[in-house]
Amino acid sequence: MREFQYCVPTKILFGPQTEEQTGQAALAEGARRVLVLYGGGSAERSGLLGRVRNALAQVGIAGFVKGGVRPNPLMDFAKETVDEHQDKGIDLVLAVGGGSVMDTAKAVSVGLASSAEEMYAVFQSRRPPETALGVGAVVTMAASGSETSPTAVLSDGVTHEKLVCTSPLLVPRFAILNPELTYTTPPLQTACGAADILMHTLERYCADLGGNELTDALAEGLLRTAVRNGRRCMEVPGDYAARSELMWCGSLSHNGLTGLGRSNEFPVHRLGHELAARYDIPHGMSLTILWPHWARAARGRIAPRLARLGRAVFGVAETGEDAAAQACIEAFEGYFRELGLPVCFARAPMGVERDEVLRVFAANCTDSGAHPLGALCPLGYEEVLAVYRAANGAG
Ligand code: NZQ
Ligand code: ZN
Repeated sequence: MREFQYCVPTKILFGPQTEEQTGQAALAEGARRVLVLYGGGSAERSGLLGRVRNALAQVGIAGFVKGGVRPNPLMDFAKETVDEHQDKGIDLVLAVGGGSVMDTAKAVSVGLASSAEEMYAVFQSRRPPETALGVGAVVTMAASGSETSPTAVLSDGVTHEKLVCTSPLLVPRFAILNPELTYTTPPLQTACGAADILMHTLERYCADLGGNELTDALAEGLLRTAVRNGRRCMEVPGDYAARSELMWCGSLSHNGLTGLGRSNEFPVHRLGHELAARYDIPHGMSLTILWPHWARAARGRIAPRLARLGRAVFGVAETGEDAAAQACIEAFEGYFRELGLPVCFARAPMGVERDEVLRVFAANCTDSGAHPLGALCPLGYEEVLAVYRAANGAG
């Protein structure tokens, strides 16, 4: 087991109607003036936004409200929000939504504690911020794990680049997790969310060859649970038990628990960010398109790992390591298809792409070939290009 630090300070309020405790949770953080952010309108239509505003008002908190965060959220929107609220004395930013709203809240928390210019500089340079307001979250879909993660991902609308900022200051102070709020998640988003949850643990699992028994057991248990309950949520959207399991998997899959004591890297996320930013497709979909092809490229190096994973999660029966590794990749690929998600460009909204665009993606992921993608299975420019080319075909 490698040396590690583990600190997840997010207070979790889990269960039905927990959004009614939003005011108390914000008050416990010393908040008096809260900026409530939400997305394209689902929180308004469901009545959730009204309930949250009431909960804040009941404890005497002044609520400022701003809607309009879009999926694959933009830095420009965060800047606009900061500019509009800089002089309002906001002391906490509350996200009501999914990962896009939570990540925007995190960026805004940096901007309101400093300036919009500093927020931009922090994201552009990928350096941690020096200061940020507290963030809280009322989570409406199981996916990103942003509610317990130290990360925010926002897109530059001009360069089509996903900018990633990571800092302990960005870990939300509290997260309200009411699984019932996720019943209305559109099927495509439920599927993409389940895929993203799997991927957060899958990437950690494939980043090392083992050496940490408990972490492996937690990871395998989480993956089995997410596979089973992701399927169930697609079949019966109003199944409270399944929605609960998937939601809790989402929060635990990206808070570091399933990668503790091992090296961590996210090569498939890096590959996928190129697609999500350029084509504006859901984040989870960008990962299912690429993971099987990345895994085939990495198989020579991590076959025993994939073999163990396949046996633990899908009951793969092959005895040989290489055959079991191959069966593991096929099992995940089959599961993504079962969720209705593409495993190649051809079946995704953008369709087959020109080779010159794939070359740009490969160059972006490897600093034009100067740095390979990944450490355990380092892929150079040509190998990354081969992954994109494999993903580009029919599948
Ligand atoms: O905007 P509204 O109207 O709310 O609709 C949203 C949006 O259209 C809808 N939705 C969410 N909850 C709903 C609902 N519709 C009906 N009922 C509900 N209960 O779903 C759509 C997608 O929402 P979004 O927030 O974009 O999805 P998700 O939670 O998957 O977040 C994706 C973003 O998270 C980033 C991704 O890059 C992407 O931008 N990530 C953030 C991470 C982090 N901060 O740690 C890690 C992840 O790897 C990921 O990169
Ligand atoms: Zn992700």
